[in-house]
Amino acid sequence: MARKKKRIAIVGCGGISRVHIEGFDLVKDRAEVVAVCDVNAKNAELRAEQAGGAIVYTDWKELIAKEQIDAVDICLPHHLHKSAIIDFAKAKKHILCEKPLCLTMREAKEIVATIKKSRVMYMSAHNQIFDPIVRKAKEMLDAGAIGEVYYLRTQDCFRVEALHQGDRDFMTWRANVKTQGGGELIDTGYHPSYLLLYLAGSPIKEVTSVLGNFTKTLSAEDSASVNVKFKNGIIGQILTSWAFPNPHGGHQIHAIGSLGQIFGSQNELYHLPNGFEEPAHIHVEGQNGYLAEIEHFVDCLVSRKKPVTTLQQGVDVLELILKATGRS
Ligand SMILES: NC(=O)c1ccc[n+]([C@@H]2O[C@H](COP(=O)([O-])OP(=O)(O)OC[C@H]3O[C@@H](n4cnc5c(N)ncnc54)[C@H](O)[C@@H]3O)[C@@H](O)[C@H]2O)c1
Repeated sequence: MARKKKRIAIVGCGGISRVHIEGFDLVKDRAEVVAVCDVNAKNAELRAEQAGGAIVYTDWKELIAKEQIDAVDICLPHHLHKSAIIDFAKAKKHILCEKPLCLTMREAKEIVATIKKSRVMYMSAHNQIFDPIVRKAKEMLDAGAIGEVYYLRTQDCFRVEALHQGDRDFMTWRANVKTQGGGELIDTGYHPSYLLLYLAGSPIKEVTSVLGNFTKTLSAEDSASVNVKFKNGIIGQILTSWAFPNPHGGHQIHAIGSLGQIFGSQNELYHLPNGFEEPAHIHVEGQNGYLAEIEHFVDCLVSRKKPVTTLQQGVDVLELILKATGRS
């Protein structure tokens, strides 16, 4: 007997939801986006059309009351994550939520308690974990390809012209610390932060940081350099910015251990054992992390598996970021 498709709602129909719907389209044999919600009805209508005719809501509480759904994909501004997660968890809907988990450790505690009580599946939308080289690199690190790991570095930087032009409006809710929860580090900086934690596979011991605000358009940092000492001894570094691009020649991830180095970005990974001058190039096949993330979410829903990117990872990365920015 054919299995029933999982019924998905998307809440928050802005930029990133477009990519999520592309992901659901690739697994339409197992899931369908049946409802979308946005306070801006035009945004919701656009996404409803993209999804092939989903029902439009402008209030997620009404959606919960009226729609039979299995799961929600939350793509809202940061300050709304906590209330949406709690509402959907209480309604016993499984959850995929965009980063960050929420704004404070207090909110995180409330979320963890509610998810535990509701017994729904929660997946953190940490898409770069699904970038082809990342899980390959993790496998190699865990298999001892570079021996004992001493040092890890992750980066995600790009120049946002609007910030250099003083265009605060361009950043909409991201320009306000109350709705964004901070500056660049809790937004784009979230990616290299969870990558560092994932690759290190250890709790953090110490965090120090230097924050920069070069464009002075935001009231919080537009750039951050964060140092992390892990309990397993690894030294970690995160570089992230909206003021400047990735340093030329730098990589999304870089690991150095007792036997050599591995480094790379997206689909291209390099392995340089000690004593060699040229690294071996490993092309890792696979679709981009966003699409693979949605596919993994649907796999977990269908086969009741625990996601690779857990709620706890969402809590841990938030803690790192709040420590680095002196918030709590
Ligand atoms: N993983 C990534 O690479 C990535 C990239 C971009 C954004 N994101 C994350 O996705 C989330 C959304 O970001 P975005 O860039 O799509 O933002 P956006 O501003 O483009 O979209 C947010 C949408 O939420 C809607 N909204 C606001 N309040 C609402 C409410 N009360 N109820 C329903 N809808 C409401 C807005 O009208 C808007 O359409 C954020 O958490 C962000 O960090 C992740």
